[in-house]
Amino acid sequence: MGSIPTPATMMEKKRILTGDRPTGKLHIGHLMGSLLNRVKLQDEYEQFVLVANVQALTDNFDNPGKVRESIYELLCDYYAVGIDFEKTTVFIQSEVKQIHEIFVYLSNFVTIQQIGHNPTIKTELAQKGMEQSTPLGFFMYPVHQVADILSVNADLVPVGKDQLPMIESTRDLARKFNTTYDVEVLHEPEALVGVEKNVPGIDGNEKMGKSLNNAIYLADDEKILREKVFKVYTDPNRIRATDPGTVEGNIAFAYHDLFNSNREEVLSLKEKYRKGTVGDVEVKEKLFIAMNSVLAPIREKRMEAEKIKEELMSKALEGSKKVSNEAEKIVNKMKSAMKINFYEK
Ligand code: TRP
Repeated sequence: MGSIPTPATMMEKKRILTGDRPTGKLHIGHLMGSLLNRVKLQDEYEQFVLVANVQALTDNFDNPGKVRESIYELLCDYYAVGIDFEKTTVFIQSEVKQIHEIFVYLSNFVTIQQIGHNPTIKTELAQKGMEQSTPLGFFMYPVHQVADILSVNADLVPVGKDQLPMIESTRDLARKFNTTYDVEVLHEPEALVGVEKNVPGIDGNEKMGKSLNNAIYLADDEKILREKVFKVYTDPNRIRATDPGTVEGNIAFAYHDLFNSNREEVLSLKEKYRKGTVGDVEVKEKLFIAMNSVLAPIREKRMEAEKIKEELMSKALEGSKKVSNEAEKIVNKMKSAMKINFYEK
């Protein structure tokens, strides 16, 4: 605390790995759910952030241009929120071939039936209408994601509840590999839960998402932010500002709770709202001010990022080389365990 880290303490830093699929811009759900947390964690941990472009292709293989463009969007979003590319190793999945190799070796330790029971995959197959005809690439991605995590032998994986089965699989596969060959090559990572804050969509849907068309993006300009804030779902039963209103399930107040650091103002607005002494317009005007004060500096930094996006890409490619070197060591150990390492005496 406050002291200069010595090489010894630096070596003791635990490894964290997280990632995002590049399929679009990031929104305030990502900001509150994971991005701000990454900014905090990058000082305490050795942090890896993966741009999962190969995973993104599993259900976007016919739209590679979107995936490619979205990598830049992600890099700009990361930079904008304060992820420091010197502290955090940002890397691109397709550039680390060892992940694919680890994936192939791990696939011996999982059954098709187990993947079929993975709740995340089940939900996604239903949502995408792919239950009758399931592309193998998509079906296998949970195992590929396990390989992401094991490629750096991460100690911790910050996740939302929906990703918990993935961490369970990682632990399971790491353990099975180690016990089968009587080695200690793969680490069983822990999930870092409880860090994710769920941010509802502006329409009142409990999830914010691009396909739901209910998101506020980090890249939105001030005018769009204002428009979206004024569209936020409030209390549908309240017709006049003098009607007593409901705060629970009211998105304007959900966002006040998340963004407005003036707790007194929030409390007093809630109280007045319940009594019917404040109108939606005032609640939203104050919400816009609160949200804009958080988002304006991010927006500004994002414009800066747009200008240096090729530089950010170079950093991510450098990061990929570093991860590739780390992963190669793990691959070699796995190959030795499986007796397919022909360069080992
Ligand atoms: N599946 C994650 C998502 O959709 C992205 C991801 C890919 C990931 N590989 C990962 C997250 C490894 C954590 C660890 O957001």
